[in-house]
Amino acid sequence: MGLSAWKAYRETRWALRVNPSSGNLHPTEAYIVHDGRILHYAPREHAVEERAVMSFDRWQAFLGGQEGFLVALTSIHWREAWKYGERAFRYCQHDVGHAIAALRVSAALFGWTLRLLPEWSDDDLSTLLGVDRDEDRGDAEAEHPECLALVGPSVSWNPGDRASVVAAARSATWLGRANVLSRGHDQWEIIERVTKATHYPGQLPTPNSQRPTLNVEPLGVGPFGNWELRRELILQRRSAVAFDGRTTLPRERFLSMLSALDPGAPPFDAIDWPPHVHLALFVHRVDGLVPGVYAYVRESGVVDEWRAVMRPEFLWEPVADGLFLLLPTDVRWAANRLSCDQEIASDGFFSLGMIARLESALRERGQWFYRRLFWECGMIGQVLYLEAEAAGSRATGIGCFYDDAVHELLGLSGRAWHSLYHFSMGKPVDDFRLTTEPGYIWEVSAT
Ligand SMILES: Cc1cc2nc3c(=O)[nH]c(=O)nc-3n(C[C@H](O)[C@H](O)[C@H](O)COP(=O)(O)O)c2cc1C
Repeated sequence: MGLSAWKAYRETRWALRVNPSSGNLHPTEAYIVHDGRILHYAPREHAVEERAVMSFDRWQAFLGGQEGFLVALTSIHWREAWKYGERAFRYCQHDVGHAIAALRVSAALFGWTLRLLPEWSDDDLSTLLGVDRDEDRGDAEAEHPECLALVGPSVSWNPGDRASVVAAARSATWLGRANVLSRGHDQWEIIERVTKATHYPGQLPTPNSQRPTLNVEPLGVGPFGNWELRRELILQRRSAVAFDGRTTLPRERFLSMLSALDPGAPPFDAIDWPPHVHLALFVHRVDGLVPGVYAYVRESGVVDEWRAVMRPEFLWEPVADGLFLLLPTDVRWAANRLSCDQEIASDGFFSLGMIARLESALRERGQWFYRRLFWECGMIGQVLYLEAEAAGSRATGIGCFYDDAVHELLGLSGRAWHSLYHFSMGKPVDDFRLTTEPGYIWEVSAT
């Protein structure tokens, strides 16, 4: 969640982070609960600020003798809403997904692992983090709880009594006050409505016996796709602003990138739901693959479902495990148009739409699951960002796209499947007018 670089152009200087964010606005806040201390992460300083210290005994009882700590994420919608209006809610959720994957990768660097704790409701989390403490917030913008994760060498155990920790947080002594970001605010009533509609009630804990075994790989073994897990690679992740429109991607590399989206592999082992997001790809420049529209399904059963609801003229020609050619044609113009006329969608190796199972998922699980669909998209994006860096190329998340037009192109109607996020990858064209410095001063002396 920290800074990865400072960029400068003439008088202007801005920071980039390990996790990307729509418009570089970073609505996601991170917290740590460690040794009974509730700590807020300050990225600029790479330091933690103590918000509260709870009863150590209750914390110890919660851990039950196991090694680990908690990390939590929240969103400040206003950070995105001042610029993007009602789209801000979705972008905040994408960002949470990117952050979950970034944290899971970070845990893996230490040979540790991380999983979300679905038992904790939004209300529990608000109390634990103190974001419901109006007395500390004053006139500052609202901060909304997103998720809580357990981090440790093993996380396949259930922590102890949640209610006791929530009560300990409530009665703790709190320090600090939130900053006010803006003097004036536009009201985006729909953001408040969707926030309420997707309020998470918490779930019963899964018994230890039913929890899948999690992957804990030692440093450098590379459980993430085919690349070695390296600090440098994580810190060099950037969004491309333009692609060269020429360079091609080797077919094997492309296929290995897709296989890194295996729902059973890290970072997807951090989440507690089966895959709901699959890809509609617009392939432009992959060696040995005819340009066109492709489907990549992360779960085999989806093929029959998609065949039944997508355009009848699609070929469904198998290319590799999970990958099907639907329509061989030059899709550069269409991809560009679908992603709000952004050239990054047509000038790279490929761009894609992440198509989520929407209606049935919300009906079966509850409206709160809407947020998690975006988290899954963000996690896919984070893996592809890192895969791009490992391949000597670059990627960019695309939050601006025309979903109705994507659905029309694929032949989708109704709300069963919905495009929730776009993404692109290619050979970047760097802007050499910008200078780059490390995220933190001590890294200057280290290099
Ligand atoms: C959810 C999301 C949506 C984004 N949408 C776009 C987009 O539509 N067009 C674009 O050029 N960049 C887009 N980006 C890239 C951001 O602008 C970029 O992440 C941000 O400027 C920070 O830069 P960095 O990724 O190099 O750290 C998006 C990023 C995210 C995470």
